[in-house]
Amino acid sequence: MIDRTTVDRIFDAARIVDVVGEFVSLKRRGVNYFGCCPFHNERTPSFSVNPARNIYKCFGCGKAGNSVNFIMEHEHLGYADALRYLAKKYNIPIEEKEQTPEEKQLTSHRESLVVVSAYAARVFHDNLFNTREGTAIGLSYFKERGFREDIIKNFELGYSLEARSAFTQKALKDGYREDFLVETGLSIQGERGIFDRFSGRVIFPIHSLAGKVIAFGGRVLKTDKKTAKYLNSPESEIYHKSKVLYGIFQAKKSIVQNDKCFLVEGYTDVLSMHQAGIENVVASSGTALTVEQIQLVKRFTPNITVLYDGDPAGIKASLRGIDLILQEDMNVKVLLLPDGEDPDSFARSHSASELEEYIRASETDFITFKAQLLLDDARNDPIKRSQLITDVVQSIALIPKAIMRSVYLKECARMFEMDEQMLTETSEMMRQKKIADQRRTDTRNRTNEPEAPKPNGEVQNEVKPQTPNPELEIPHEQAREQKELIGAEKEIIRLMLRYGQETLVEADEITGETGLTVAAYIIRELCMDELDLQQPLLRRIFEEYKQLSYNGAIVGDLHFTQHPDPEISRLVAGFEPKYELSNIHRRNGTIVKTEENSLYEVVPVSVLAYKHKRVMMRLKEISHVMQQAEIDHDMNRFETLCMQYKELTHVKKALGLTLGKRIYN
Ligand code: CTP
Ligand code: MN
Repeated sequence: MIDRTTVDRIFDAARIVDVVGEFVSLKRRGVNYFGCCPFHNERTPSFSVNPARNIYKCFGCGKAGNSVNFIMEHEHLGYADALRYLAKKYNIPIEEKEQTPEEKQLTSHRESLVVVSAYAARVFHDNLFNTREGTAIGLSYFKERGFREDIIKNFELGYSLEARSAFTQKALKDGYREDFLVETGLSIQGERGIFDRFSGRVIFPIHSLAGKVIAFGGRVLKTDKKTAKYLNSPESEIYHKSKVLYGIFQAKKSIVQNDKCFLVEGYTDVLSMHQAGIENVVASSGTALTVEQIQLVKRFTPNITVLYDGDPAGIKASLRGIDLILQEDMNVKVLLLPDGEDPDSFARSHSASELEEYIRASETDFITFKAQLLLDDARNDPIKRSQLITDVVQSIALIPKAIMRSVYLKECARMFEMDEQMLTETSEMMRQKKIADQRRTDTRNRTNEPEAPKPNGEVQNEVKPQTPNPELEIPHEQAREQKELIGAEKEIIRLMLRYGQETLVEADEITGETGLTVAAYIIRELCMDELDLQQPLLRRIFEEYKQLSYNGAIVGDLHFTQHPDPEISRLVAGFEPKYELSNIHRRNGTIVKTEENSLYEVVPVSVLAYKHKRVMMRLKEISHVMQQAEIDHDMNRFETLCMQYKELTHVKKALGLTLGKRIYN
């Protein structure tokens, strides 16, 4: 932990123009600077840097933030590491915060595991070059497989000597603790004493995203043995295999540069592809692909190409992978290698340019892939054919974004000569079914108590009357409303941060108090009606602002653009620096009505409009529940809801009236 004072010093020192200027060539234009955005491809500069607010914002891709956010995003670092990076740049000594004894124990425990793993990687790697056994057996094995020395070094490959506890004894002699050796799985405590897990195997160290060795894979050399071909480190406090991808550390830069990541199965596939010049490649290595692994890739690119063996196991794995990747809102392509080849063998038997050409020519989208796979024996069999189409549509239905779904459905319709409308309906039905299933499990998990008996003792109808096809519109409608609501919340927070300390009215009409500020007005209005903001980040900003101002602090925009929570600073930096008011902003003679001098209109209108939206949404909710109460013949409940509905309708009317007056006056 870096203590708060040091964090503040780093923020103060890291002037945005300077920090960004190291990576982007900036030109001054007025008070701001402009350059080409490093986060998306562009030729005309839309990336702006605002020295006064100490933030950057790209008007092309929308990325925004402060100096620390920039380094996090650009260098793919976590928050603390980005701070350390800047501290180093500005020669600020880092005062790590005093940790609690528990924190200390936890970090020092984890650090010890990392230290012993780094040591082991060194020893294994050293064996390869500096012991007779290592060179004769390990190094010659890698050489036979055709791995170049730079690859062996870059991936820190190694060899564990054959003697039963050679490594463990050496480690103990060098002062490493037995319990850490056992916990990392390097050593195994057996009945006849402690021994090496990996003895006699070549070693593939597994690196974390930051490049620390956190685990190992060890391969046997003699294939005739009955032992497993690969042994891997067990799970430990530093190694959670479902969250790790082999090769990610060595690949991340190339993944960003190529905006694409190849996913292969094994250690040797990664190595051979690197050797052939394709460095944006990672392996799930021994585990079935997980959501966490996909999300790890997603930090660097939305594009994955799955490159698996052409054998049935490989095909099955790629099919499963495809659906998972689609579900995570990423673009997936598939590349099947000729039967009997894996990426390793293929890369070794072809030149780098042949490999690239093969990839370019054979990469297919997942529909074509599935179709090719199954079409041959499905072509003349209508049942199989329809199963195949269902199968493809099922995958498409997993894609979260509607536009993407529709693009793929079009393609699918074209390929199978099917009616697009029908496929779309099928896909929507599958989605709705999934959502309904999800809801059912959710409610089941929430309420474990049995359903309450109906008050009038009536037996419930077997078949519930259905509202006319509500599934198809409601989600879109809801999504739109939700978006608008968040927009309204954002607007309120923007006004609060930008003009919070400005005086809104000289004397308040309700309380008669003088000098009510914008912030005080907003806080009062929302708290009076007990309206919590719905968007979690905005709510946190609001609550923090409220707390600070209760404590008498004067809160400005900078407090949040330089906020220690990178999510908050990014969001706030993204607020437009200047807001045009198209309907009020007019030049009549001398007075230009800007936002700044119309706060007495702008602020109440935003707050009223927000309240109006909330009331409308609440009304809708109530009317849904009313329908349900009617279906359930729950008349008491129905009446209570009716009352609420009527009351709220009055509120809505009143709000609408005031709003109208405010807007049209
Ligand atoms: N694997 C494993 N345990 C095994 C077999 C395989 O953990 N007993 C993992 C390894 O990460 C391996 C990957 O699954 O890299 C793919 O397995 P396989 O294709 O059999 O191995 P290759 O990587 O092709 O290794 P080699 O070429 O050395 O046989
Ligand atoms: Mn292989």
